[in-house]
Amino acid sequence: MAKFTGILLFLVCLSGFHVCFGNTDPQDVAALRSLMEQWQNTPSAWGQTDDPCGTAWQGITCTGSRVVTLILSNQNIQGTLSGDIGQLSQLQTLDLSLNGGLGGPLTENIGNLKQLTSLSLQNCSFTGSIPGVLGSLSKLSFLALNSNQFSGTIPASLGNLSNVYWLDLSYNQLSGQLPISSGTSPGLDLLVHTQHFHFNQNNLSGTIPEKLFSSQMQLIHILFDGNNFTGEIPASIGLVNSLEALRLDRNGFSGPVPSSIANLTNLHELNLANNKLTGLMPNLTGMSSLNYVDLSNNTFNRSETPLWFSTLDTLTSLVVSYGRLSGPVPQKLFSLPQIQQVILDNNEFTGTLGMGSNISSHLQTVNFENNNISLFTPPPNFHGIIMLHGNEVCETVSVLKNTIYCSDHPQALTPYSTSLASCGSSSCSSGLSVRPLSCNCACPLTGMLTFRAPYFSDVTNSTVFQDLENQLWQNLSLSPGSVYLENPFFDENSYMQVQVKLFPPTGTSFNQSEVSRISSQLGQQNEFKPPKIFGPYLFTANPYPCLDNQSGGSSLSKGAAAGIAAGCAIVLLTLIGMGIYAFRQKRRAERATEISKPFAAWASTKGVDGVPQLKGARWFTFDELTKITNNFAEMNEIGAGGYGKVYKGQLTNGQVVAIKRAQAGSLQGAAEFKTEIELLSRVHHKNLVGLVGFCFEQGEQMLVYEFISNGTLRENLSAENGKQQLDWMKRLKIALGSARGLAYLHELADPPIIHRDIKSANILLDKLLNAKVADFGLSKLVSDAEKGHVSTQVKGTLGYLDPEYYMTQLLTEKSDVYSYGVVMLELITGKPPLHKGKYIVREVRLALNMMGEDPYCGLEDMVDTVIRNSETLIAFKSFVQLAMLCVEETGARRPKMNQVVKEIELMLQSDGFQIEPESEPSSATDFYREAGVGTALHGHLYNDQQLPTKEASSSGFDYSGAYALSTKIEPK
Ligand SMILES: *[C@@H]1O[C@H](CO)[C@@H](O)[C@H](O)[C@H]1NC(C)=O
Ligand SMILES: *[C@@H]1O[C@H](CO)[C@@H](O)[C@H](O)[C@H]1NC(C)=O
Ligand SMILES: *[C@@H]1O[C@H](CO)[C@@H](O)[C@H](O)[C@H]1NC(C)=O
Repeated sequence: MAKFTGILLFLVCLSGFHVCFGNTDPQDVAALRSLMEQWQNTPSAWGQTDDPCGTAWQGITCTGSRVVTLILSNQNIQGTLSGDIGQLSQLQTLDLSLNGGLGGPLTENIGNLKQLTSLSLQNCSFTGSIPGVLGSLSKLSFLALNSNQFSGTIPASLGNLSNVYWLDLSYNQLSGQLPISSGTSPGLDLLVHTQHFHFNQNNLSGTIPEKLFSSQMQLIHILFDGNNFTGEIPASIGLVNSLEALRLDRNGFSGPVPSSIANLTNLHELNLANNKLTGLMPNLTGMSSLNYVDLSNNTFNRSETPLWFSTLDTLTSLVVSYGRLSGPVPQKLFSLPQIQQVILDNNEFTGTLGMGSNISSHLQTVNFENNNISLFTPPPNFHGIIMLHGNEVCETVSVLKNTIYCSDHPQALTPYSTSLASCGSSSCSSGLSVRPLSCNCACPLTGMLTFRAPYFSDVTNSTVFQDLENQLWQNLSLSPGSVYLENPFFDENSYMQVQVKLFPPTGTSFNQSEVSRISSQLGQQNEFKPPKIFGPYLFTANPYPCLDNQSGGSSLSKGAAAGIAAGCAIVLLTLIGMGIYAFRQKRRAERATEISKPFAAWASTKGVDGVPQLKGARWFTFDELTKITNNFAEMNEIGAGGYGKVYKGQLTNGQVVAIKRAQAGSLQGAAEFKTEIELLSRVHHKNLVGLVGFCFEQGEQMLVYEFISNGTLRENLSAENGKQQLDWMKRLKIALGSARGLAYLHELADPPIIHRDIKSANILLDKLLNAKVADFGLSKLVSDAEKGHVSTQVKGTLGYLDPEYYMTQLLTEKSDVYSYGVVMLELITGKPPLHKGKYIVREVRLALNMMGEDPYCGLEDMVDTVIRNSETLIAFKSFVQLAMLCVEETGARRPKMNQVVKEIELMLQSDGFQIEPESEPSSATDFYREAGVGTALHGHLYNDQQLPTKEASSSGFDYSGAYALSTKIEPK
C-alpha cells in the first residue's frame, strides 16, 4: 500500500513536473543552491522557489530549462565559488565581478563550462593558480581575471583560446615567463584573434620571445607594464600593425629599442619608461598616430633632441625625464598643434628656454626642472604651468628667483569636475549627493574608472570629459545628468583615474539588479566604450550603500508554489535516490552571525537608515585584511597606541594602506563605529589623511587609511630614522598644511569636527612633505543642538591639552587651536612639549616676558639647532606671535583656525612664495575686517610689514618688490 502511494505520488509529480521544478533543470537548481550555501548576501530573490528560470532569480537568465547567464556583479557576495558551478553546463556568461569578499582558489570544475563565452571574475579575491582547464573553454571570447590574488605562471593552455579577444590578467601576483608554443604545446603566440593583452601589475619575468608577435596578430592594446621582464624588446613587435597602445614601462628591458617600432603607425601611446634601455633614443619619425610618449629613466646615449620631437604633429604628451638630453630646447615643440604636456626634467638642456610666439593653445604643463637652462623669459598670455626649479636661471636671474617658475613646490591644475553650478548651494543629507542637472538628492553608485593608456594628459579639458559623461549615461541606459565625474588625475603608474558617480535616472536609489547590471556592463566592457582617446579602462566600484530594503518579493502564491514544489521534490528525490544531492557541498556554510555581515547587520536593525552612508570608502572583509597584513604579522606593524595597533599592507590594486585595528578594550558599539566611519568617509581634504575603508566583522573593528610615506612630524623633528632635517621654509609649509586641514574640520566639514588630539605625532608627512592631519579617533561632531561647545569627558594628550578645556570640560574648536599652538612651538624648538620636566608653553612665555626690548632675543637658546644658524628665518617673529596667541589661556582670545591659515599664508607670501590658493585666495582685507582677536593679529602683521625684520634685510630682500612681481606673473 505504501509502495502504491509512493508510485502514485511519483506519477503525480511526473505529470506535474512543471510544478515540481518549474521550468528549470533540477541539476541547475541544485547547482545554484549549492552556490548559495557558500555565499553570504545573495540577492533576496534567490532561493525563494526551485524555479530560477520561471520565477526570475536575480541575475539568472535561461534558454529553455537551462541556465545560460549568471551575473551578480558588485553584490557584496562573500564566500567561495563552489565546485558545483561546473554543473551549470550550459552557462554562457558568468560574471561575479566586483565582489571583494568572494575568493579562495578557482575550482577546476570551471573547465566543465564548455559553452562559456564570457567569464568575468575581476576585482574579487581569488587565490592560487589560474586553472589550466580554462584553456579548454574553446568558445571563450572574454576572459577577465584581473585584480585578484592569482599566483603562479600563466598556463600555456590559454594559447588554445582561439576565440578570445579580451584577455585581462592584470593586477595579480603572476610570475614566470610568458608561455610560447613549441611542438604540440600551446602558447600565447597562437592567440591571433586577441585584441587585448592586459598583463600589467604582476611579477612576470624573463624575456619576451620574438615568436610572441607576428603579422597575423590583431592586438590593439599591449599592457605589460609593472612587471619584471628583462632582455631586449623583440623586433617582431613592429609587425603588429594594429597596435594602438604599447606599455612596457616599469620593467627591466635592456638593449636598444628595435627600429621596427617606428612601423607601428597606428600607435597612440608608447610608454617605455623606467627600463634599462640603451643605445640611441629611438627614432619615432613616421609614427603618424602617436599622441603620448614616455621614454623616461632609461640609459640611452647622451644626445641632443631627436628631430621627431618637433615634427610629430600628433603629439599631446612628451615625457622624457632623466633622458640624458642636452643642447638647446627646440622651440617648435611648444607649437605642435595638439601638444598639452612637455616633461623634460632632469636632462642636460642648456641655453635659452624660448617657447616662441606660437605656443599651442592646448599646452598646459612644461617641466624643465634640473637642467642647465640659463635664460628664460616668461611667455606673455600663457596660462599653463612652467617649472624651472634647479636650473642656472633660477640662481642667476634675481627677478625669477622667488617666482613660481623657480619654486620647488609644484603647482597643480584644477582638474575637471562635472558642474553643479546650476544647483546653487543645494546640499543633501549624508549618503546622498546632488544629482547634476535635476539637482535633487539621490544615492549614486560610486567607483573609479582607471584609464590605463590614455592618449592625452590634460585633466582640465571639459570637452573631453563631457564626452565621457554623455557616452556613459547613453550606453548605460541612464539619463542626462546621471553622471558626475570628479578629480581626474594621473597616478604614479601613469594611469588616469577618474572618480565617477552614477545616479538613478528616476527616484533616489538603484535597486539591486540595476547595480549589478551597470557594474557588469562597465566591467565586461560590452556596453560602455569610452571615447577612443581614453584608451583601455577598468571599473572598480564601491559596494552600493542604499539598497531599498527589500521588496520582500514573495507573494503568497509564490510561497505556496514553492511549498508544493519542495514537497514534490522530496518525494521525487526519495524515489530516484540521493543522486542530485551528491554533488552538493556537504559543508553547509554555518550561518554566520549577523555581525559578520556588516551591511546586513546594520540594515536589519534599523531599516535603510541602518546602512552606513559612506562617501568613497569601501568595506573590507576580515580575511582580506588578514591577507594583506600577512596575518597581522609583527613585521607589518607600524605603530601602536591605547586603541590597538597599526599595520601596513598593500591592496590588490597596489595602494598602500595603514590599518588601524582596535583591541579588545577600545572596541565601540556598532552604532558608534558606524557613526565614526560615516564621519570619516565624508572628510576629504588634501591635508587630512583619507579613509580608504573599514572592516566590521568577526568582532573586529578596523579602519583602513591611506598610507603616508614620510612618517610623523614628531619623527621628522627628532630626525629619527635618518629622516631629512626640516628647514624653516619646510616648517612653515607644514604649519600651513596642518592649519588648513584643521580649518577644514572646523569650518567646512558638515557637521563640523573637533579633532581633540592635535599633536606632532598626529601630523603625517607625505613624499613632498605635505602635512596631513591624522587620527580623528577621538573626534567629536559639533551638532547643531549644542553648537559652540560640547561637554564631554576630557581626552587628549598631555602637553597639548587646552587648560581651559581641562578645567571646564567644555570642548570647543579653540581647544584644537591651543594644541595646534603647541605644535607651532615644537616647530620652533624642535623639542616635544614636555621635555626634561619643562613645559614648552611656559618656557617660551617666560623667555619672552623676561626680555623687554627685543623679546625675541630671549628665544635664541630655545630655537632648534637645525634652523638656528640658517641665514633667514622668514617671518619668524610673526610665527612666534601667532603661536603665543594660539596658546592663550582663554579660548576666546585665541584665533580661529582660518585666521591662522591666512596669517601663515601671508608669512609665506612675504617670501614671494606662491601658495596655491585652496579655493578662493584668502584676502588680507577680509582678515582685517575680523574683529576681536583678528585686530590683535592685524597689529602684529602690520609691524612686520612696515619694519623689515633683521633677517629680511640681511638677505637683501625687498618685500614690496617681490610681492608685486609675484602678483603680476602669477599664472591663472
Ligand atoms: C626581477 O628579476 C630579477 C632577476 O631576473 C630578480 O633578481 C628580482 O628579484 C626580480 N624582482 C622581483 C620584484 O621579483
Ligand atoms: C617596416 O615595414 C616594412 C613593410 O612592412 C618593412 O619592409 C620594413 O622592413 C619594416 N621596417 C622595420 C624597421 O622593420
Ligand atoms: C629617422 O627615421 C626617418 C624615417 O625613417 C629617417 O628619414 C631619418 O633619417 C631618421 N633619423 C635618424 C637620425 O636616424
